[in-house]
Amino acid sequence: MKKPWAGRFQKETAKSVETFSESVSFDRRLWRVDIEGSIAHARMLAKQGIISRDEALTIIRGLKEIAEEIQRGSLHFDASLEDVHMNIEAALIRKTGAAGAKLHTARSRNDQVALDLRLYLRQEIREIIALIDRFQEVILGLARRHTNTLMPGYTHMQRAQPVVLAHHLLAYFEMFSRDRQRFEDALGRMSVSPLGACALAGTSLPIDRKYVAKLLRFGTVSDNSIDAISDRDFAIEFVSVSAMTMMHTSRLCEDLVLWSTEEFGFIELPDAFATGSSIMPQKKNPDVPELVRGKTGRVYGNLVGILTMMKALPLSYNRDMQEDKIPVFDTVDTVKSVLAVLADMLPHIKFNRRRMAEAASRGFSTATDVAEYLVSKGVPFRTAHEVVGRLVRFCGEGGLAIEDLPIAKLREFSPLFQKDLYRLLSARSSVARKRSAGGTSPVLVAKRIRTLGRARKP
Ligand code: ARG
Repeated sequence: MKKPWAGRFQKETAKSVETFSESVSFDRRLWRVDIEGSIAHARMLAKQGIISRDEALTIIRGLKEIAEEIQRGSLHFDASLEDVHMNIEAALIRKTGAAGAKLHTARSRNDQVALDLRLYLRQEIREIIALIDRFQEVILGLARRHTNTLMPGYTHMQRAQPVVLAHHLLAYFEMFSRDRQRFEDALGRMSVSPLGACALAGTSLPIDRKYVAKLLRFGTVSDNSIDAISDRDFAIEFVSVSAMTMMHTSRLCEDLVLWSTEEFGFIELPDAFATGSSIMPQKKNPDVPELVRGKTGRVYGNLVGILTMMKALPLSYNRDMQEDKIPVFDTVDTVKSVLAVLADMLPHIKFNRRRMAEAASRGFSTATDVAEYLVSKGVPFRTAHEVVGRLVRFCGEGGLAIEDLPIAKLREFSPLFQKDLYRLLSARSSVARKRSAGGTSPVLVAKRIRTLGRARKP
C-alpha cells in the first residue's frame, strides 16, 4: 500500500519492518474515538474556513460510513498502513478523494493518537467507575446481612481481636471508595485536549483548538504543544490507579482463598464460581480469587512496562510510545473483568457463621479487653498488659481459657478482678464495646452502612 510519506522515499518499506512496526492489529480498538476526533476536527476546519463546508460534510459522511463498515466487520485493516489512524484516513480518501485528503490538515498522528487515547480512556474509566459502584453495592449488601456475624480479626495472620464480618467487608468498601476517587481524579486531569499541537510545534494555520475541545467535551486545551504530544502520564496514571485497585481486589481474594480452606472453613464458594480437579474427586478449588491474585501481577507488570517504556525518552514524540497501548488495553480488560466477576460471585458465598464465631472466641482474643478492664480501674496500661500476659501464659500452659478460672484464681493475678469481668470475656461483648469512632461495634457498623447506603442514593 502506498504510504502517505511516499514522496520523500525511493524504496518500499521492507516486509519485515511492516510486520514489526504495525500497530493496527491492536490499536484498531481506537477506531470509534479516532472517528469521533476526526469529525470534530473536520467541523473545526470548516468553521475556520480552512476547508469548505461541503468538504467537511463529505468527510463527515465518509467517516460515518466507515464507522458502519468497521462495525459490520467489512472494513479490511491493512498492516502496511501501520495503524488505525492511517487505515481510517486511507479508507476516507478512497471514498471521498480530494475532500478526504484535506482531513489531516493541521493535524499529526502525534496529537491524534494523544487525543484518541484520552477519549478511549475517558470512556473506559467511566465504565470502570460504574463497575466499582456495582461491586461496592454488593459489598454493602453482604455487610448488611453480617453486622452481627462474629469473626476473629487478624494481625500477622494470628488471631488478634474479635470483629464483625461486616466491619471486615466494609474495610474493602472504603478502599474501593478511594480507588473510585482516584479514577475520578485521573479523569479530571485527562480532560485536556491535545488536538492542535500537531506534530509538536503547533501550526501556522488559523485553527480553533478550544472549539474542537468543546465539541469533544474536554474541559480545556493543553498549554504546551510539546507536552501535549510527548507525555503519557495520563495513561500511566490510569494503569497505576488500576494497579492499586487490583492490589485491593487481590487482598480480598486472598481472604476468600484462605477462608475457603478446610483449615479455616469460614466460607463455601458457590459451585458456579469454583472448579473441580481432574484427578481428585473431592476438590473444590477457588480459581476465581486465585486468578484475581494472579492477574494483579499482570497489571503491575503493565505499570512497570509502560513506566519503563517512557523512562528517559527525549522530548517529544518517539515511536517507542506506540508500545503504550498494549499495557493500557490489557489493564482495561483485566480490571473490568475482575470487578465484574467479583460482583457476580460475592453475593453467593456461604458464610459459616457458627465456625467463624467459634474461632472468634478462641485464642485469648479478648485478652486486650481484660487489660482495658484493669485500665478502667486505674492500672497503667503497661502494667495491665503484663498482668494479662502472665494470665494468658498460665492459662495456655494448662490448656484453659481465662473464663475457666474461678475468681479467686484470677485475683492472684490482680486483686482488682471482680466477677463482672466474666461478662466481658465473650467475643460478642468484646465487639459490642468497641464503640470508638470507626470501631467494630455492630451498632456503629450498622450506622456506617446506613450512611454509606444514603450516600449512594442518586
Ligand atoms: N501508531 C502511532 C502510535 O501509536 C501513532 C503515532 C505515529 N506517529 C509517528 N510520528 N510515527 O504512537
